[in-house]
Amino acid sequence: MCGIIGYTGKESALPLILGGLERLEYRGYDSAGVAIIEEGSLIVEKQVGKIRELVRSLWGKPFKGKTGIGHTRWATHGAPSVDNAHPHTDSRGEFAVVHNGIIENYLDLKRELESEGFKMRSETDSEVIAHLISKNYEGDLLTAVLKTCEKIRGAFAFAVISSREPFRVVGVKQGSPLVVGIGEGENFLASDIPAILPYTKRVITLEDGEIADITPEGVNIYDFWGNPLTKDIMIVPWDLISAEKAGFKHFMLKEIFEQPKAVGDTVRGLLSEFDSFPFSLKDFSRALIIACGTSYHAGLSAKFWIEKYAGVPTEVVYASEFRYGEHPLGDDVIVIGISQSGETIDTKFALNSAKEKGATTLAVVNVVGSSIDRESDYSLYTHAGPEIGVAATKTFTAQLAALYYLAIGESPKKEPLLRDLLKIPSIVENALESAEDVESVAEKYLKKKDFLYLGRYLSYPIALEGALKLKEISYIHAEGYPAGEMKHGPIALIDENMPVVVVAPRDRVYEKSISNIEEVRARKGIVISVGFEEDDKLKKYSEDLLKIPEVPEDLTPFLTVIPLQLLAYYIASKLGLDVDQPRNLAKTVTVE
Ligand code: G6P
Repeated sequence: MCGIIGYTGKESALPLILGGLERLEYRGYDSAGVAIIEEGSLIVEKQVGKIRELVRSLWGKPFKGKTGIGHTRWATHGAPSVDNAHPHTDSRGEFAVVHNGIIENYLDLKRELESEGFKMRSETDSEVIAHLISKNYEGDLLTAVLKTCEKIRGAFAFAVISSREPFRVVGVKQGSPLVVGIGEGENFLASDIPAILPYTKRVITLEDGEIADITPEGVNIYDFWGNPLTKDIMIVPWDLISAEKAGFKHFMLKEIFEQPKAVGDTVRGLLSEFDSFPFSLKDFSRALIIACGTSYHAGLSAKFWIEKYAGVPTEVVYASEFRYGEHPLGDDVIVIGISQSGETIDTKFALNSAKEKGATTLAVVNVVGSSIDRESDYSLYTHAGPEIGVAATKTFTAQLAALYYLAIGESPKKEPLLRDLLKIPSIVENALESAEDVESVAEKYLKKKDFLYLGRYLSYPIALEGALKLKEISYIHAEGYPAGEMKHGPIALIDENMPVVVVAPRDRVYEKSISNIEEVRARKGIVISVGFEEDDKLKKYSEDLLKIPEVPEDLTPFLTVIPLQLLAYYIASKLGLDVDQPRNLAKTVTVE
């Protein structure tokens, strides 16, 4: 994980880099640092904690240098400390490096460098890059970087500056993301587009094995052998406003409220993009869905839709587990990778390995131009815009929309099904009107230490997602379970202190869900149900009913998830927790 940024141009680099780091902070926030070339010398400032700690430590230090790099860290090798924070420098303080990813052979390189007299100051894998560049430097930074790339192995992106060449930043991409921003008399490097969006919308996405050499006047791209490459410049459609809080207390709340637009934009996008696909799901004898976290839950919902409408047997696998099985795959299998960021390394590796085995790969991604988008055979885009809150919300419902659209593609009833899907944005809008009711329910339960979330059929993935949301941002233990399995274990947990959230819209399993509610009540558990607003029976059986508007059974996941996102949000927010940047997590997970 980690976020990196580099700048060289006509402005003071420091404010631009700090602004960019704030927008990259979702990638990790254990420590942060900057390096600026100030009057020909390299100045480095690092702090443990969030960017605001770094900003505080820079008060009264108005550096004016016009070239610099910055880093926000999610610790992998070495605890969060000032020594382990980036940028890392060589022994003479002439080269500074920020790095995202893992250098797999760093222990060997470290031993080699130490035997040659280089002194390591951190426990990180990253520091070896700075020493190697310094060792390889013979008057040209790009050549030194090329020689360094010959030695290091792993998945990484890094940027380097040197006081020897004060108007140059060199960036390398191999496995972790890196984009180049093209400005007027200034140029940028960053892990992700939102970091540079206030300054430019003209972006080059680097591929693995590419190096960007940037100066204020221009950008040159090379491969690892130093051959120049010609790359297309993409104009980013997102505007800055969508990456700001717009009056909401947290990005997560703003993003929950953006779901009607995210779903609507996604469906409209698919209407024009998907119909040009040269295949249909029915061309395959099997579908395999690969994803992590919230995207995995969207995949579990999609399984029901694909099997129902396309009639294709579908399996859903955690990307991180996929690699350990044999998974016989061939050209009769479609492998669907779902990823908001398009950079989750487990999902990326799993898709690539499926492709090598001959399967057709289809990505469902939010970030256009991300690794998973580029490396898959086909892509479906969720047009949810940038999602900043670490806990995914609007991208989940946008993923549901894309997957539902994919599933109904072949149905003879596609037209009426699509008409129902197109009504979802305004129905979600209505559901959001109950936010205050959810807030009052949150107030009642925020001191509870454990929650159980239950659901059957299409509500089972939503129970998992509701529990995940609560864990992620409130640090309260929550377990999601198929309601029918409760009697095989979790029922033992239920007593008068246990809130049990039961997702029970009036669907084919409704009566069975009511029976589960009775079982919970018989053991004095506190029932919080999610169901249709006119459902008096459910109301009678529940301590609290989180109401949603009535929709056809297949579309219930779009609605049932809304109060669960809000419940988690209000509990965490009322507990005074850092909702947008929960501890230990990062939005984009580029480590295995
Ligand atoms: C991280 C994020 C989750 C996300 C998961 C998968 O764990 O914190 O919110 O669901 O990664 O990310 P992806 O970008 O592949 O959807």
